[in-house]
Amino acid sequence: MSPITVSVAPICENMSPSRVTSLGGFPCAIAIANVVMATIICSPVKLFIFFTSVYIMYERKLIVKNQLLIMLKQNTDYISGEAISDSLDVSRSAIWKVINKLKNEGYIIEAKTNKGYKLISVPDIISEQELKDGLRTKYIGQKIFAFDEIGSTNEQAKKQAGSGAINGSLFIADRQLCGRGRLNKQWLSLANVGVWMSILLMPDVLPSKIMQISLISGIVICKVIKNQTGLNAQIKWPNDIIINGKKVCGILTEMVTEEQRISFVVNGIGINVNTREFPEEVEDIATSLYLETGKIFSRKLLIQEILVKFEEYYEKFIYGNELTSIIDEYRSMCLNVGKEVVVIMRDKQLQGKTVGITEIGELIIKTEAGEVINVSSGEVSVRGVNGYI
Ligand code: BTN
Repeated sequence: MSPITVSVAPICENMSPSRVTSLGGFPCAIAIANVVMATIICSPVKLFIFFTSVYIMYERKLIVKNQLLIMLKQNTDYISGEAISDSLDVSRSAIWKVINKLKNEGYIIEAKTNKGYKLISVPDIISEQELKDGLRTKYIGQKIFAFDEIGSTNEQAKKQAGSGAINGSLFIADRQLCGRGRLNKQWLSLANVGVWMSILLMPDVLPSKIMQISLISGIVICKVIKNQTGLNAQIKWPNDIIINGKKVCGILTEMVTEEQRISFVVNGIGINVNTREFPEEVEDIATSLYLETGKIFSRKLLIQEILVKFEEYYEKFIYGNELTSIIDEYRSMCLNVGKEVVVIMRDKQLQGKTVGITEIGELIIKTEAGEVINVSSGEVSVRGVNGYI
């Protein structure tokens, strides 16, 4: 059983996102009311002008906010209201309003008379702008759909795959109401404490390659966790990430195919980053980076490094034909080899010793009867004979 799988409120059917960050808290109800009023009393031309001007005003506000943030980030010292006002061509009072908005979002900004504004700290928010700031990738995460709250980022990615979302698009949420795990389990995705994200991929490869795309994420996340926390993260086949015997991250890779080719793949990643406690039913098998170190980690930095490394490995796999070296690396991180395990399939269960990983990432099991079987991921769960590992 997937360990971080607990019951969440069954309110997932047809969930729509509460807010796409790039639309930043647009007061929808007021806009609709305005449109209704305008339709009643105005001509279509006036309505068009009204709509366009509301949109332009909204876009302008967003641009000013983004540019102001860039200016604050680029200046380590105070920057005067006058300088900001001149550079962005907006009034001092408009700047003051934007500063307050940023403060409400959690940015700590010091304001001093005769000196101006200074950015003290940036909150761990995973907005499109924060994630793109300093992100050095070509296409992975270059298009971001960020949500405060959503049913499931995997579901959202699948929905948008056919309508505008492009190869490499990232779907990310602060909280998932119906996070999904492997084998149709639910995935606990509390607000602000984890990385709940899905990468949309459109590779021109055969459907049989999906397992390797999933394994790549495991390698990448292991490396990033090791790099940023110093913890010894390992992989439990196929791609649970384990620290000190407990699961810190799960990966759910799904695909849609057409005529034996992949239309798109959704690579869903859930990492328990700053989670302080888990429900009783999973606390023995689930952990977080915070619980392992006592330290809070920046989700933004984790996500950015994952995106960069994922692109690197994905390219090695898709264009570089480097599967052999990738699987060698996977083997070195995989903790199952040499262990007695139980393999639970849809219709049967088998017990044996893990003797290796094939060149395409399957688990090689030698059963008690001496038979050697290659198991590929899909609808399979593997656990130790005496417990989770
Ligand atoms: C597992 O069972 O181990 C896989 C868990 C995958 C969870 C992630 S969180 C982001 C993405 N959206 C989902 O609904 N699930 C995946």
